[in-house]
Amino acid sequence: MNTNAKQHQTPIIVVGAGIVGITTAYVLQASGKYAVTVVAEYLPLPTLSDAYTTSAAPAWASPFAGGNWHGYAKLDQTDLQQKELFTLHMLQKLCDLYPDSSIKRVKGYEYRKAADYIEPYFIRHISGVRYIPTSELPPQGIDVGVEFDTVVFNAPEYLAWLARKFVAIGGVLRQSTRLSSLSDALKYAPTPSSPSSNENNNGAGVVVVNCTGLGSRYLVDVADAAVTPARGHVVLVRSPECQDVTVSDESEWFYVIPRGNGTVILGGTYDIGNWSQTTNPDTTTRILQNTIRLCPQLIGEPATSHTTAQNIDDRVAKLRERIVSEHVGFRPMRVGGVRLELSQLDVGNVPVVHNYGHGGYGYQSSWGYAYGAMRLVDQAVNSSCSVGPKHTQSKL
Ligand SMILES: Cc1cc2nc3c(=O)[nH]c(=O)nc-3n(C[C@H](O)[C@H](O)[C@H](O)COP(=O)(O)OP(=O)(O)OC[C@H]3O[C@@H](n4cnc5c(N)ncnc54)[C@H](O)[C@@H]3O)c2cc1C
Ligand SMILES: *[C@@H]1O[C@H](CO)[C@@H](O)[C@H](O)[C@H]1NC(C)=O
Ligand SMILES: *[C@@H]1O[C@H](CO)[C@@H](O)[C@H](O)[C@H]1NC(C)=O
Ligand SMILES: *[C@@H]1O[C@H](CO)[C@@H](O)[C@H](O)[C@H]1NC(C)=O
Ligand SMILES: *[C@@H]1O[C@H](CO)[C@@H](O)[C@H](O)[C@H]1NC(C)=O
Repeated sequence: MNTNAKQHQTPIIVVGAGIVGITTAYVLQASGKYAVTVVAEYLPLPTLSDAYTTSAAPAWASPFAGGNWHGYAKLDQTDLQQKELFTLHMLQKLCDLYPDSSIKRVKGYEYRKAADYIEPYFIRHISGVRYIPTSELPPQGIDVGVEFDTVVFNAPEYLAWLARKFVAIGGVLRQSTRLSSLSDALKYAPTPSSPSSNENNNGAGVVVVNCTGLGSRYLVDVADAAVTPARGHVVLVRSPECQDVTVSDESEWFYVIPRGNGTVILGGTYDIGNWSQTTNPDTTTRILQNTIRLCPQLIGEPATSHTTAQNIDDRVAKLRERIVSEHVGFRPMRVGGVRLELSQLDVGNVPVVHNYGHGGYGYQSSWGYAYGAMRLVDQAVNSSCSVGPKHTQSKL
């Protein structure tokens, strides 16, 4: 693609190789206008083996995601709604075109208590919606259930697949140490004529895109205190019998997300501000008790076989035998929501586009935010004079 236009491509440094950084980098590179280098301490290629090490988890959320699409935006968050719906359509398209992306079309189920049920915005926008008759609902307190068409993906596999696509269209991935400041990223800038050059560049003509997730809290120049972890403890079990996604939001939040390879992610917690990397055995038990109640297929039983006070211990024991591993990940939550904004570095007149703070919805909004970020990059490159500190919300 577009290799003949290299001399006109503006160099871009995307900092961060989670799903937000990789998707943004892919969109920029695929536009043909930019020569993109992704710089990150943790990269999905050549292998993902670093992902589950203790040092990576607090700095790299993406390998730990479920992952499914389950619209998160509230009724008044129309911008996020558009980004989520756009991303769902992209993921469905990728699923149909590329079976090796790991994306699969599945049925999603949402279970709630009637007292606090508000119909999610996406119900009016997606296919396959059906309210489930009360007689078919799981027991114990659930009285609203809705079925809809959605997708699941194997988070680490999808991330690595998209990174390979990015490299295949000429993008460059470079591993760095943990950067302590923005100006550190500039030394990875490609020169416009040789996008993969190892030579340092003083940053002239470069745009930096900040997709560092929780890293944005720690970079020394302008630490963003609004960024905070939302800790997620998940249990990976072997269950080829389970095919569909189930999410329940009662007093606690539980979910069942098949990874499409015979394993299923069970979760989970959303502990704001908690950095503990240790799995809590009580949490494990609570996750098993509640997910087996929602989804008896996990142990190969029919959807209609209900968990009761008599059979619960037996069922949890069966599910426990299927545990493959347990993980703790940290969602890059940000008070006030995602920061998608055009700004400027302290040094030089280097424009920087921020795209971080996607909390629990980084995958399911990834394509919407990537195109939003590209608009801001276009804007930065187009301004003829030096870019002043602008604070522009993208309107995708
Ligand atoms: C248990 C769990 C389940 C989830 N399930 C879902 C789901 O089903 N659907 C969904 O949409 N989302 C889900 N999420 C949320 C999703 O994982 C995140 O929103 C998403 O991964 C955020 O991606 P990111 O690219 O912003 O950040 P990260 O994936 O955290 O990537 C950050 C990148 O920046 C680099 N970096 C940071 N700081 C520096 C630095 N100083 N120097 C160099 N490099 C740096 C890191 O090395 C890394 O490459 C889940 C999360 C968890 C924990
Ligand atoms: C990302 O944004 C945060 C918040 O403004 C800032 O502290 C950090 O330096 C930026 N990091 C990079 C690498 O762009
Ligand atoms: C399924 O995918 C997960 C995540 O990539 C991986 O850890 C696990 O080993 C895979 N399991 C099988 C049976 O392939
Ligand atoms: C963080 O979570 C762990 C694991 O559940 C728990 O043991 C610990 O008490 C929590 N810490 C705080 C400060 O809430
Ligand atoms: C300049 O902005 C327009 C949209 O306003 C965009 O289509 C175009 O690609 C931008 N040019 C560059 C070089 O990015």
